[in-house]
Amino acid sequence: MGQEERNPGVRPAGSDPGPRKVHIKTFGCQMNVYDSERMAELLAPAGIAETADMDEADIVVLNTCHIREKAAEKVYSDLGRIRQLKDRRRQAGRRTIVAVAGCVAQAEGGEITRREPAVDLVVGPQSYHRLADLIARLEADALPIVETEFPEEDKFAALPARARSRSPAAFLTVQEGCDKFCTFCVVPYTRGAEFSRPVAAIEAEARRLADHGVREITLLGQNVNAYHGAGPDGEAWSLARLISRLAGIGGLERLRYTTSHPCDMGDDLIAAHRDEPKLMPFLHLPFQAGSDRILAAMNRRHTGRDYLALIERIRRARPDIALSTDVIVGFPGETEAEFSATVALLEHVGFAQAYSFKYSPRPGTPAASMAQLPESVRDDRLQRLQAVVERHQTSFNSASVGKVVPVLFERAGRHAGQLVGRSPHMQWVHAEAESSLCGHVLEVEIRAAGANSLGGRLRSDAA
Ligand code: 5AD
Ligand code: SF4
Repeated sequence: MGQEERNPGVRPAGSDPGPRKVHIKTFGCQMNVYDSERMAELLAPAGIAETADMDEADIVVLNTCHIREKAAEKVYSDLGRIRQLKDRRRQAGRRTIVAVAGCVAQAEGGEITRREPAVDLVVGPQSYHRLADLIARLEADALPIVETEFPEEDKFAALPARARSRSPAAFLTVQEGCDKFCTFCVVPYTRGAEFSRPVAAIEAEARRLADHGVREITLLGQNVNAYHGAGPDGEAWSLARLISRLAGIGGLERLRYTTSHPCDMGDDLIAAHRDEPKLMPFLHLPFQAGSDRILAAMNRRHTGRDYLALIERIRRARPDIALSTDVIVGFPGETEAEFSATVALLEHVGFAQAYSFKYSPRPGTPAASMAQLPESVRDDRLQRLQAVVERHQTSFNSASVGKVVPVLFERAGRHAGQLVGRSPHMQWVHAEAESSLCGHVLEVEIRAAGANSLGGRLRSDAA
């Protein structure tokens, strides 16, 4: 595993251990990235500092994803390696606390500690605001804890105010859970029923992020465009109304939101793409499948034609919008002709980005008990679909060559002297730039394009 060779990470018994450290490894979606940041923020006042190096950590948190089998299994293979680390340290007289958070924690609960006894704590996505207390309890009493209730109290209200963000582009969860029950998906079970945070709490968090130098916020929710949080006037506000409120925050230059469901794409949200300059011209709108029979079996509540009509309305409102999507291939019973309908829909829309997945049966979901296609068929379809996606992404990116685009630089690039940031269309752009320009939106002339990123040069008047 390499950790042993690099750094044994075991402090000699009796030496001053210094402040305790936590290593948080994040799997899965952006909401987990957000949750991991909040966990680090809430542990800091308890004297537990974050470390990027697992070997240094007294507490290891795996913030897990249950969406596909592969993601969930990865957690157990990591836990096997962590057990060895924990055993070595125990022999050296040092304790390690191992916690499993996130959606695997929610879905599997106590099964995790039975399968992997190295785990001390299982904490679901609705309970992680109690993490500091749970760790204190474990330190006092070594019995394993499983906390996967959906507590009455508001998790967000219990979290401390946002600390300084690591990046000028931050996530902010505004909505959680899902009531749609697509037949392939575990989210309604792991994240629970749809819940929207109140406008005032979101605005306060966004202002604080902006005060800390954040220039771009991506509003997160499993079904973000179903947002209907309580406004200051006591009415339920739509996502469009929330966006227009947040757009008034000084210093905040860009807003995005993800992930949306086609059925919740309201007229006001489409109009916001036309009218709100801070709302970036990018939309991630999963369609999952092109065949109406498969869409019905998935319980998606829309047809292929509905989706195309929606795209047309969105493009009318904002002609330069870049579209992104999620697609599943090899859903139970999918025929070759039905797979071709998915490819045809992809070809028709021409997505700037697309995430494609091989159907993975998830325990407890309706599609898991349908007759499954052979793995080889699913693999083959995924490969063919990904070739189409790559062609589209490359052609979308190539169309940027020669253009000048505003890039929000977020972090150092792979090569010295380089920064990386996002274009309005979510493309990664690399350019030579001084590190002091991180956090600024600068004009970049695009000179090269690949399937996944762009390269360019700062306009001389920008540097
Ligand atoms: N198998 C494969 N892909 C899935 N997704 C959700 N559940 C499954 C599953 N069981 C995909 C969907 C969703 C994305 C986040 O993950 O495309 O939009
Ligand atoms: Fe899962 Fe999204 Fe369907 Fe909800 S809308 S069940 S999160 S795929």
